Order: sequence, then structure tokens, then C-alpha cells
Amino acid sequence: MSKITIHTADEIEAMRRVGAEAADLLDFITPYVKAGVSTLSLDDLMLDYTVNTLKAKSACLGYNPGNGVPYPRATCISVNNVICHGIPSEKKILKNGDIVNIDVTIEKDGFFGDNSRMFIIGKPTIAGKRLVEATWGCMWAGIEAVRPGNCFNDIGIACQKFVKPLGLSIVHEYGGHGIGRVFHGEPHVCHVPISMPTARFEPGMIFTVEPMVNAGKRHIMDLNDGWTVVTKDRSLSAQWELEVVVTETGYDILTVSKGMPEPPEWVKGWKKPSFA
Ligand code: MF3
Ligand code: CO
Ligand code: CO
Repeated sequence: MSKITIHTADEIEAMRRVGAEAADLLDFITPYVKAGVSTLSLDDLMLDYTVNTLKAKSACLGYNPGNGVPYPRATCISVNNVICHGIPSEKKILKNGDIVNIDVTIEKDGFFGDNSRMFIIGKPTIAGKRLVEATWGCMWAGIEAVRPGNCFNDIGIACQKFVKPLGLSIVHEYGGHGIGRVFHGEPHVCHVPISMPTARFEPGMIFTVEPMVNAGKRHIMDLNDGWTVVTKDRSLSAQWELEVVVTETGYDILTVSKGMPEPPEWVKGWKKPSFA
């Protein structure tokens, strides 16, 4: 018996609406992501846009899934060696060559929308650009494995196969997740192969694919603020996140906006719509 929610056509349309708004929030912040700004100033702008323009809520602000510290800000902004859950701070000033992940989750009308993108500040470093592009490809390799008949493990197999020849490593401890009327639902989506059996994809399942890829070794370390996760070897880390719905024949992307990058040219299962 599977605990994975199969969404109705109406629920999928609601998820498409909130997903598009979560993607639009990343479009909105893009022109502000520049050298010299603090990550807190970006968080302030995004919270204002979420509440006053999108008429939505930040799902991250106050989020406390375990028994830990409630997440103190509206978004996660993870710079360079920060893998994920970077807490926006007025002390963290973006500088030339930084690689930055901005991860936003909003809630509206009882549904969640979760996505993240990478930004490179000013002139990219060779290592930074290579990692950011490889992680984009890794995510899409995983997404391309989604179709009825395949199983969740096929995502991890595809992500690992993509990254391995590049000498990069995928974080094991964090993964994608089911999403819908809950922020983090079943299943946990591993971006590396696992030996336990995983569920088969069925139309109506909705989940994120969000690999975290390190330039160095895969190992992680927690900072003592209850949230920030960094690479143990201090190497750069990148992440992208999209929401995927399983269709009868393959998949569709739910977090789509004008400003999302085009998928790699080898992607067969999805084409970015035109926003004329
Ligand atoms: N948006 C993250 C994810 O992709 C979760 C962030 S939880 C927070 O699942 F509390 F750190 F914001
Ligand atoms: Co996210
Ligand atoms: Co997520």
C-alpha cells in the first residue's frame, strides 16, 4: 500500500497555479541578485512580494518539522560552500564570482509551491559555472527518468550516472519530496541509487527533484544555527529544484515561469512553453 498521494485533475491545476507563482517569485528577485547586496535584503524583497503581490504565505518562515529551531526567514539563500538552508543575513554580502542558490516555498489556497535556482554573481569562475551547469543537467537527467512503469530509484540512477564522469558528488542526506497539500510528503526522493525497493511512478503523483551537487566530496556538516548545511571539505555546492507531476505517458513540470532557463537540448520529455 502506497502512502503517495495521487492528485486529481483539479488538484494538479491548483498545483500548477501555485507552482507558477513560486517560479514567478524567482523571476521577480533575479534583477536584484547582484554583488554588494545582503542576502537578508533579498529575503525581505521576496517576503514582501509573496505577501503583497502573490497574496500567498512563505512556507519556510517559522517552519519547524522536528523539534528544532523554527526556520527564521522566508527563503533559503545558500552561497558557495553552503549546500542548503542558508539563512538570509544582513552580514552575508554577495560578491563577484559567488554561486548562489535561492530556494522559495509558498503556500496559497491550501497548496504548496517549491522551487529553487542558481545565480552566479558578476563574472563566473570556471569551477562555479561548471558546477552550476552540471547540477542543472543532473536535475534534468533525473526528471527524464519519470514515467509510469519506472520507479523513484530510476531518478537516483540517472542523476548519479550524469554526475559521475564529471568527478562531482551528490549529497546523500537531503532529497526531493512529495508535495501538494503538504510541504514535505511521501516519498523521499533520493538523487543517488538506493538498495531498498522504491515506488513505481503513477499518474497524479507530484514531487520535487532537487539534487545538491558538490564540487568536492559528498559529505556534509551542520552549522550550529540549527539549519545551515555546508560541505565538509568546504568545496562549492549547487542545487536546482523543480516540481514534477507524473502524466499518463511521462511527466510535466509545475514550477514554470518566463524566467526559468531552457532545459538542456537533450531533454526529450518536456519543452518550455512560450511566454509571448
Ligand atoms: N525549500 C526546501 C525544500 O526544497 C525546504 C526549506 S525548509 C526551510 O524542500 F525551513 F529551511 F526553509
Ligand atoms: Co525548495
Ligand atoms: Co523541496
